[in-house]
Amino acid sequence: MSGRVATGADRADRPIRRRGVVGWFDPRGRRLGGWAFALNRLTGLGLVAYLYLHLGILSLLAAGPGSWDAFVDVALSPLVLGLDVVLIFGMLFHGLNGIRVSLVGLGYVTDRHRALFVALMVFGALVLAVAALRIFVK
Ligand code: HEM
Repeated sequence: MSGRVATGADRADRPIRRRGVVGWFDPRGRRLGGWAFALNRLTGLGLVAYLYLHLGILSLLAAGPGSWDAFVDVALSPLVLGLDVVLIFGMLFHGLNGIRVSLVGLGYVTDRHRALFVALMVFGALVLAVAALRIFVK
């Protein structure tokens, strides 16, 4: 035993332990790439959940036109239209960030991946704004 008193610097050197799902959003030591990874995971899981929801909703077709018409009324409510915008955000973020991760993984633009991320997100924000206008403004 050295007998040396632990200092703040020693604590800063220790690796950060992130636990469970809450740990994905633990802000300690996270930089832009870390946040992008956490949001990529959240949107990826959200898209998987949406896929099953989508298949479930399509199965309403088997129950005849009455149940489908009732669903369409719900789908056109402002709440569900807002969720459509959230879905488009998830698709855009996951797809565009996924292209960046794939390119960097293949060894391209490794020195400019931050700029690529910002450019893709600006493009995604513009597409999202147009989509939201098309959804809400008739
Ligand atoms: C343009 C389409 C897509 C692209 C380019 C893309 C790209 C990627 C990439 C590169 C990763 C790995 C991320 C990493 O290792 O940091 C990933 C993870 C994942 N993707 Fe996609 N993806 C796409 C569409 C989808 C769709 C449609 C779904 C769901 C139905 C999905 C679900 C997931 C899930 C669940 C993960 C694992 C996330 C994790 O464990 O961190 N992706 N995607």
